[in-house]
Amino acid sequence: MQPTPSARVHYEQELHTRTAEAGARRRRHMWGLCIMAVAFLAAIGRAQPVFSPEDLERAMKAVGRYVELTHSAIGAGDFETAKTRVARARNQLAPTIAFWRNNKEADAVKFLREAIAALDELDLSLSNEPIDRAAAGAAAKKVDAACQRCHAVYREQDPTSKKFVVKLRR
Ligand code: HEC
Repeated sequence: MQPTPSARVHYEQELHTRTAEAGARRRRHMWGLCIMAVAFLAAIGRAQPVFSPEDLERAMKAVGRYVELTHSAIGAGDFETAKTRVARARNQLAPTIAFWRNNKEADAVKFLREAIAALDELDLSLSNEPIDRAAAGAAAKKVDAACQRCHAVYREQDPTSKKFVVKLRR
């Protein structure tokens, strides 16, 4: 049987509506997946990386070494070497923020930010042309003071083994 013209128009409209509905359903489904993916990534992003006391010790030893080398390079007037040592110290120090955040030690986070800022100041003073050795030396002393502020609160030394350990306040 041939469909009447009006039945045909109706059929085509129906087909069109169904296709549109299926498209809308697919789009809603895609949106749902996107939202789930974003929520999942946000949850991962919020979680701090694992940063154990051993990681902290390893990082601190490296920071201590690079800061010592910075002092000797400044003393020798080798500012280029000093600048690379400062960058290494900063690279080792910055990730330790995970340790303090995981342990909810807000003051330590503040001390850490100050120490990083002091390293950045030192880096700046080593970037000036010509470099002022006295100013670089003074900036290096400020780095030591910033390290010391955190150590005074959060670091302990075992009297017999002389080993340094972290002292949490919570
Ligand atoms: C936010 C706190 C904090 C800041 C800032 C900080 N430290 Fe430390 N540091 C610690 C703690 C806690 C320890 C003890 C942990 C350990 O050594 O196991 C430590 C240990 C050390 C040690 C001894 C490592 C060992 O175990 O033998 C050195 C060296 C050191 N830090 C150097 C530095 C230097 C240099 C800076 C500055 C550029 C600095 N630290 C900044 C908290 C900090």
